[in-house]
Amino acid sequence: GSGGERELCAPICCILGHVDAGKTKLLDCVRGTNVQKGEAGGITQQIGATYLPVENIRERAGLKPEVAIKVPGLLVIDTPGHESFSKMRSRGLSLCDIAVVVVDITRGLEKQTIESLHLLKRHDVRFIVALTKVDRLYGWKSCPNAPIVKALKSQSDDVQSEYKWRLTEVVTQFKENGFNTAPYYENKKMKQVFNIVPTSAIRGEGVPDLLLLLVRWVPEIMIEKLVYDNSVECTILEVNGDKDLGTTIDVVLINGALHQGDQAIVCTKQGPVTTIIRDLLTPHPMKELKAKGVYKHHKELRAVHGVKIVAPGLQHAMAGTSLIVVKPGDDLRQAEAAAMQQMNITISAADENEEGTAAEVSRVKTCKEGLYVQASSIGTLEAIIDHLQSSNVDIPVSDWNLGPVHKQDVVKAAAMLNRKEEYAAILAFDVKVMPEASVLAAESGVRIFMADTVYNLVDSYAEHINGLNE
Ligand code: GTP
Ligand code: MG
Ligand code: NA
Repeated sequence: GSGGERELCAPICCILGHVDAGKTKLLDCVRGTNVQKGEAGGITQQIGATYLPVENIRERAGLKPEVAIKVPGLLVIDTPGHESFSKMRSRGLSLCDIAVVVVDITRGLEKQTIESLHLLKRHDVRFIVALTKVDRLYGWKSCPNAPIVKALKSQSDDVQSEYKWRLTEVVTQFKENGFNTAPYYENKKMKQVFNIVPTSAIRGEGVPDLLLLLVRWVPEIMIEKLVYDNSVECTILEVNGDKDLGTTIDVVLINGALHQGDQAIVCTKQGPVTTIIRDLLTPHPMKELKAKGVYKHHKELRAVHGVKIVAPGLQHAMAGTSLIVVKPGDDLRQAEAAAMQQMNITISAADENEEGTAAEVSRVKTCKEGLYVQASSIGTLEAIIDHLQSSNVDIPVSDWNLGPVHKQDVVKAAAMLNRKEEYAAILAFDVKVMPEASVLAAESGVRIFMADTVYNLVDSYAEHINGLNE
């Protein structure tokens, strides 16, 4: 197809796959970063977004100047592979134009790979398979950043035959799950047969091939979808409690432009919240939006981008819903109604199908007696609650908050002391506990649990409960 003179947006690409398949490492290899190494327990616990400008992609893929690329870049969304983070996965996927399903060549398809395939089918999203860790094939000779066909040609017969049988096995597993796949360099029917790109995140073999498919083949198959449009389409990816900025939201700007000073509406369980955008922040190109780092400030931003929005009153914004921008002359009441309409849709969808269509929208369930959970983002809060309720103990949650633990949080948690003492506790994840809050907790008998992964956090509380019951 031809894009003519029309402005195109960067495709949005979501990375999915089983725990430790190598999603973050592959993205690190593309970005030249080391995010994976810094992750607690080596696991991704928050959804991320990285903008890759086309110049960087060209350099990374070793493209000659005469090779034309129609899109300005690529927005990549990294997701966690662990079980309790299914909402983040479906949220990432519901936003994307294309997905990369990462499969470890030494392990084949695993539980969350298959979960991801079901999601892709339901959302009708096309994908590319990155069959990664090829450097783990016994005797692999490294060929840094080489195109995969070239890298494969320089391998011994033994390596080539191990590669072939492992590839055949993976193709069979995809077939068993209802998908036709083929290595992309042999794939003559790219419209029907999904591409497999063998890669290594250690030395970068196959990475140029993967990038090229994303920036050249993806626009070929969905040019209309990528045409820039003025109407604002902006989805909330994450709600964060930041100790300096207060509550901020991470959004994916899919269409249109955002400006400082724009009036915007988010839907919350308590009703619509109208606010004014104070600041628009992006990380530097090739850096993670979620990483607490240096941000660039923007007066205006055009789609596509991953953006951190600073605005008052966002505490109850719901991840997975849209931010509605009110233009001068728009009817505010109508815009508020439109924002709240999303709530009706997601609630009715959720009633019909508990884990179905509305999984991408945050709905934190609470009850009268239960723990107090405090986290740095709504996504991790959901993962903690998911894990609390899926563990064999089924621990309820009475209330929650985002950002640092303050005295008021301890006061709320202390309400359980004379209802159900074992619930007079705060599970705090990735947040600071203010000194006055610690003092009050110690005085009143509220226990504060902290850990570096949501799994360790729930475990440490469960151990404490077991200790009490013995
Ligand atoms: P979660 O986010 O926790 O689901 O994992 P992930 O899919 O992001 O995997 P991650 O990037 O954390 O990698 C898991 C482990 O595999 C790490 O120890 C990586 O160093 C290793 N790894 C990833 N890619 C490769 C690769 O291409 N080759 C080799 N040899 N090791 C790799
Ligand atoms: Mg990861
Ligand atoms: Na990992």
